[in-house]
Amino acid sequence: MNVLVTGGAGYIGSVVVEQLLKHGHQAVVFDNLSKGHRAAVAPEAVFLQADLHDNDAVIRALETHKIEAVIHMAADSLVGESMADPLKYFGSNVGGANSLLNAMLKVGVRKIVLSSTAATYGAPETMPITEATPQRPTNPYGESKLMIETMLRWCDATYGLRYVSLRYFNAAGATERCGEDHEPETHLIPNVLRVAAGKAEHVNVFGEDYPTPDGTCVRDYIHVIDLADAHILALNVLERRSEVYNLGYGSGYSVAEVVEMARQVTGRRIPTEAAPRRAGDPPVLIASPDKIMRDLGWNPRHSELDRIIESAWRWHVAHPNGY
Ligand code: UFG
Repeated sequence: MNVLVTGGAGYIGSVVVEQLLKHGHQAVVFDNLSKGHRAAVAPEAVFLQADLHDNDAVIRALETHKIEAVIHMAADSLVGESMADPLKYFGSNVGGANSLLNAMLKVGVRKIVLSSTAATYGAPETMPITEATPQRPTNPYGESKLMIETMLRWCDATYGLRYVSLRYFNAAGATERCGEDHEPETHLIPNVLRVAAGKAEHVNVFGEDYPTPDGTCVRDYIHVIDLADAHILALNVLERRSEVYNLGYGSGYSVAEVVEMARQVTGRRIPTEAAPRRAGDPPVLIASPDKIMRDLGWNPRHSELDRIIESAWRWHVAHPNGY
């Protein structure tokens, strides 16, 4: 299939492109490089540097490369930043999706996989989170993705667009070529590894008084390869219907547990310092992955936290200054 991957030069996008190519698909990356890296894009993929808000550029990309489906990953995705600047998130995420959908419908492309997020659920009280758990986002980032999910539902009802929304939990780990390289880095595992590598003195632990067993936030960390695999399965669903799936393993680790595991994996000292809670952070997010396993036979192969951290560490050591 000819697949347009928006945000295909980003951390998760670049791994999705690798997996698409591995499965015999053609990948066309559409990325403005505001966050992504040209070097992250596999050499076999077509690369277009353009912005989603440029409707003509999107239409040209879809037509020129005879695109059959879109994997839409381009987005701003930081919870903390979205709390400080909500309009940035509604503009880029909701505005970008609106422009993309207009272009797709104009040229008759009616299949899309959306990278959505656990942040659309907010802070549910019962775990694990299923697809039926009510979506009540606690930050503008999650709200913006929920708005895109809603747009897709209406586009299905009205224009016959088929979509799969994949609600990611916490993507982590690396492949041999592709790893996490953000500026600034805000995510837990790369920050912990920066300390292990001696590039920072300590890890800030944002909140130690949450209602969790050790007081630090609990997340469901999913290896980026397992995450990317689900996109390949989702493309097949688009032939028949629209769907929504959670993507996590169903097990949670606290911030303190992640730091401890990183100490074991790297054999380095990783000092921590207590810091105030980060605005918008829910205490616990753990997925139920039952639906995607049952419906699509999704079979995660990289779920051990030590292996996830080990892969991220290998990439970090091989790319000490990022891409
Ligand atoms: N944390 C720290 N110190 C750090 C960085 C993070 O204590 O230096 C904590 C955070 O407060 C949070 C946990 O580690 O409790 C995980 O934080 P991340 O920033 O790694 O990830 P988030 O859970 O905030 O968000 C990520 C993605 C979102 C996605 C969400 C879904 O960035 O896009 O997972 O669970 F929506």
